[in-house]
Amino acid sequence: MDIVTTAAGMKGWSRAARARGGRLGLVPTMGALHDGHLSLAARARGECDVVSLSIYVNPLQFGPQEDFARYPRDLKRDAELARGAGVDVVFAPDDGEIHLPGHRTWVEVSGMQDALCGRSRPGHFRGVATVVLKLLAIATPAAAYFGEKDTQQLRIIRRMASDLHLDCAIVGCPTVREEDGLAISSRNAYLTPEERRAAPILHRALEEGAALARAGEAGAARIVARVRGTLASDPLARVDYVEAVDDETLETVTTVRGRVLLAAAAWFGRARLIDNVVLSAPEGLPT
Ligand code: PAJ
Repeated sequence: MDIVTTAAGMKGWSRAARARGGRLGLVPTMGALHDGHLSLAARARGECDVVSLSIYVNPLQFGPQEDFARYPRDLKRDAELARGAGVDVVFAPDDGEIHLPGHRTWVEVSGMQDALCGRSRPGHFRGVATVVLKLLAIATPAAAYFGEKDTQQLRIIRRMASDLHLDCAIVGCPTVREEDGLAISSRNAYLTPEERRAAPILHRALEEGAALARAGEAGAARIVARVRGTLASDPLARVDYVEAVDDETLETVTTVRGRVLLAAAAWFGRARLIDNVVLSAPEGLPT
């Protein structure tokens, strides 16, 4: 497995791989690799001839009060895990390689970037869309792999790829969870043991909302209220948002019809955790 640290090096690496006729897959990450990331690499390994995995803690997507400085970084460990997952090349660029001095170009996916997490993290998704477009331009994959855990990010990147006529399939992969249902996340490392024990309530509360929808409840407000109620029962959980939105546009819905996403974010101590489930409309109702 190779490790490439410059944009020019990565472009050359991809050009050579393409010349050999291989289908390239890219797994963009910020490192601190865990089983969620590795599931994306495994999916890419199964669908592509050559797999690249990028590791870059992108400063553009962190707010001034957020955890950019303390975000876990360990390239040696990550490279070993990537190698074990069958990755062919790790692209771990130095900061100056991605955002050039004096850069002025931003990708905005208007509306979608301001919904859900965008409300409490202004600027976050334009930072994400901008860096992902750069990574796609450098690594030139035929397919790029993203997790459903960060479902708003996945939807936004899909929209960007379609709007900009990118020649890259955006593949969504299911959320990998701990045994107790907690979605695996690099930020789980910030939880105290007590908060870690409390955190699965986020998934449980969303599942309760989904069960309510399956049982015939079509009113989004009542489903959201149930999730909020369950989260409120744990003193360690502080709700940021709970919302039912259209799965494609991320606009708030009042009725569960078609594909609706039930998404939530909550603070447990200093960790802000997110999760989501897809609601199925009650059986017998038009979807
Ligand atoms: P990061 O948080 O490192 O996540 C990298 C990818 O792993 C994302 O697509 C994310 O959705 C996926 N992922 C994380 N936890 C997962 C889990 N439990 N199950 C399945 N997939 C999971 O997301 C980012 O980095 C950045 O915003 C990035 C896209 C790299 C742009 O900087």
